Amino acid sequence: MSEHARTAGPRWSGALAFVLAATGSAVGLGNIWKFPYITGEYGGGAFVLVYLACIALIGVPVMIAEILMGRRGRHSPVNALRALAAEAGASRRWMALGWLGILAGFIILSFYSVVAGWSFDYMLAMAGGRFTGSEPEAAAEGFGQLLASPGRLLLWHTVFMLISFGIVARGVRGGLERAVSWLMPLLFALLLLLVGYAAVEGRFAAGLAFLFRPDFGLLTAEGVLVALGHAFFTLSIGLGAIMVYGAYLPQRTSIAGATLAIAGMDTVVALLAGLAIFPVVFAVPGVEPGAGPGLLFQTLPYAFGQIPGGGLFGTLFFLLVIFAALTSGISLLEPVTAYLQERRGWRRLPACALLSVGIWALGIASVLSFNLWSGVHPLGFVDGLAGRTIFDLLDALTSSLLLPLGGLGIAVFVGWVMRRRDVAAELALGEGLRFRLWYWTLRVVSPTAVLVVLLNGLGLI
Ligand code: TRP
Repeated sequence: MSEHARTAGPRWSGALAFVLAATGSAVGLGNIWKFPYITGEYGGGAFVLVYLACIALIGVPVMIAEILMGRRGRHSPVNALRALAAEAGASRRWMALGWLGILAGFIILSFYSVVAGWSFDYMLAMAGGRFTGSEPEAAAEGFGQLLASPGRLLLWHTVFMLISFGIVARGVRGGLERAVSWLMPLLFALLLLLVGYAAVEGRFAAGLAFLFRPDFGLLTAEGVLVALGHAFFTLSIGLGAIMVYGAYLPQRTSIAGATLAIAGMDTVVALLAGLAIFPVVFAVPGVEPGAGPGLLFQTLPYAFGQIPGGGLFGTLFFLLVIFAALTSGISLLEPVTAYLQERRGWRRLPACALLSVGIWALGIASVLSFNLWSGVHPLGFVDGLAGRTIFDLLDALTSSLLLPLGGLGIAVFVGWVMRRRDVAAELALGEGLRFRLWYWTLRVVSPTAVLVVLLNGLGLI
C-alpha cells in the first residue's frame, strides 16, 4: 500500500454488503425505465445481444478498474486520484478525473431525482385506480398533465432528495448499508412477483420472443452505440460512484469476483424488468413496444389498467421503480459527500445537507424544462441541439460526454499509468491468463470502444 493511501476510514461490514450496495447503485431507472424502452425502440433481441456483449467486453473490465482504483486509493475520487498518481509517479493533473466525476454525479442526481419522482405520482395514481379500464389517450394525457405541473414535479423531486439525504447522512454502515440490505431483497422479491404476474396475465411467450429472438435486420449502427453508452450508465461506471464504494471495500475481498456478481445481477434485473413489462404491453391489442421514454409512464399504466389485478400490481411496479432509483440516488450523493468531508473536514450531516440542497436547486431547472421553460433551449444555436431543453442537455452532457470521458480516463489510468505490478497486487488474481485477458481488454479494447461512442455522441463520426 502506498504511504499516501490511508488505511482508516469507513468500511462495509463485508463483501456481501459491498455487492448489495454496488448492485443497488447499478440497478436503477437505467434498468427498469431506459433498458426496456431502448430495447423496444431498437428492435428487441439483436439489440439485447449487442448490449450483453458491451457489458461483458467493456463494462466489466472498466468496472474492475474503477473498483480497484477506489480500494487502492482509499479516498473519495479526487483524493484517490491524487494518491494513485503519486504512487505511479504521474502528474497530479489526473485529479481532474475525480473532479469530472464529482461534477457528473451532481448533475445526474439533479435530473435523476426528477424522473424518479414521477414514480411516486404513478404509484399513488395506480393505487387510486386511476388507470383501471382507462382509454389509451387518457393514460397519455395523465403523463402530459404531470409534466405540465411544476408543483407536482417539484413535490416528488423534493421527496426523493429528502429520502436520499436521510440515508446518506447516516453514514456508510448506518445509512447506505442498512438501506440496501432492506431495499435490495425487497426489490428482488417484487421483481419476481411482477414477472410471475406477467407470466400469468400477460402474453409471456410474446415478451420472451421479443427480448430473446434476435432479428439482425432490425439492428442499426445507432443501436450499437446506444447499447454501448447504456452499458456505462447501467453499471454506474465512469464517475467515481463505484470507486468510492470500492474505497470502503475490505482488503481481502476479490474485486473480480464481486464485479462479476454485480454486473451479472444488473443484467438479470434488466432482463427481468423486460419480462415484467413486455408481456403486459403485448397483452393489450394495439399497444406498441417502441413507445420510447413514455413506455413506462404511458403504455404500461394503460396496459395494467386493462388486465385483472392491474391496479395492485401496477402499484407494486412503481414501488419497485422507487426502490431501484433510491439505491442508485444514494450512490450519486456519496462521492461528493465523502469529498466534502475529507477535503474540508466537515461532518457528514452538514456536508450532505449542503449538497442535497444544491442538487435539489439544480433539479428545479429540470422540473421547469417540462413546463414553464419548455421553450428554453440554451444551446439551440448549436447544430443538432436545437429544441433541447435544459433537462435534455444535462442528460446528454452527462451520458454522452462526461461518463464516457470518465470511463476512458479510468481505462487509460489503470491500463497505462498505474504500475502493472501495483494493479496486479490489488487484483490478487495472479498474473496468469485471466489477468492478462482483462489487462489487455482494458488497455486496448475498452478505450477504443469508448472513444468511438464518445466521438459519435459528439457528432464527430
Ligand atoms: N446505474 C444507475 C441506473 O441504471 C444510475 C446511476 C447510479 C449511475 N449511479 C451512477 C450512472 C453513477 C452513472 C454513474 O439507473
